[in-house]
Amino acid sequence: MSWFITILAIAALFSSQLAYAYDVNPLQDICVAVQDSNTSVFVNGKICKDPKLAKADDFFTSGFNISGEVVDKKYGYATKIVDINNMPGLNTLGISIIRADFEPKGFIQFHAHPRATEMIHILEGIIYSGFLLLLPNEENIYKSRLFAKILNPGDVFVIPQGLIHFAYNVGSTNATLFASFNSQSPGFILIPDIIFASNPPILDDALVKGFQLDKNVIKELQKKFS
Ligand SMILES: *[C@@H]1O[C@H](CO)[C@@H](O)[C@H](O)[C@H]1NC(C)=O
Ligand SMILES: *[C@@H]1O[C@H](CO)[C@@H](O)[C@H](O)[C@H]1NC(C)=O
Ligand SMILES: *[C@@H]1O[C@H](CO)[C@@H](O)[C@H](O)[C@H]1NC(C)=O
Repeated sequence: MSWFITILAIAALFSSQLAYAYDVNPLQDICVAVQDSNTSVFVNGKICKDPKLAKADDFFTSGFNISGEVVDKKYGYATKIVDINNMPGLNTLGISIIRADFEPKGFIQFHAHPRATEMIHILEGIIYSGFLLLLPNEENIYKSRLFAKILNPGDVFVIPQGLIHFAYNVGSTNATLFASFNSQSPGFILIPDIIFASNPPILDDALVKGFQLDKNVIKELQKKFS
């Protein structure tokens, strides 16, 4: 009996740590998405167009030669993404890409992609990027280890699936990178916002306990990220 409980406990530990899903392997060559939410049930991807009606434009986009617009001056970066939502031909193919442009000191905050590993390729500028891996020790079983690099043009850096990471322009010029993902829909969990901007909000007392901070600081964080 005890070995059975031990195995259950180990299984529970693993399954509770990372319950992330992979994109399924396609069972057909193409499955161009039909962008009509009324006619479909979403299971894993979108419903497919009749392959006879697929066209080259389903697999094409342009505009990656220029930066997107910086939306939030505080962070000073712009992104453009090619994923299932704007390239229907990506449906079931398990891949997507972004272009990110940074002003000097531009910062993509701490975030994670639950469904994809990310491969960063620097085109211009100098980017400090890193990810956090759970690496428990005896004093703290939740301790992480930071894997970080200063990246220059031509450098490639990989962020393993689901891990919290960031990118910061530490150079004095604008910077540009392309990042590809092994999912048509990587997901984007922005750590501060997902906690402090939830709707409805998490009870103040729970946040106070959770972060061991004063209620006023919690209120300030909620205001900042909402
Ligand atoms: C989906 O349904 C809604 C409400 O029935 C309608 O307003 C909308 O135009 C439909 N969308 C498409 C793409 O047909
Ligand atoms: C970017 O590419 C588009 C074609 O997709 C072209 O019309 C435009 O002139 C290019 N812009 C620059 C700045 O290269
Ligand atoms: C840097 O980026 C900003 C906007 O993000 C843009 O206005 C500016 O022209 C860029 N500078 C250079 C040298 O490309």
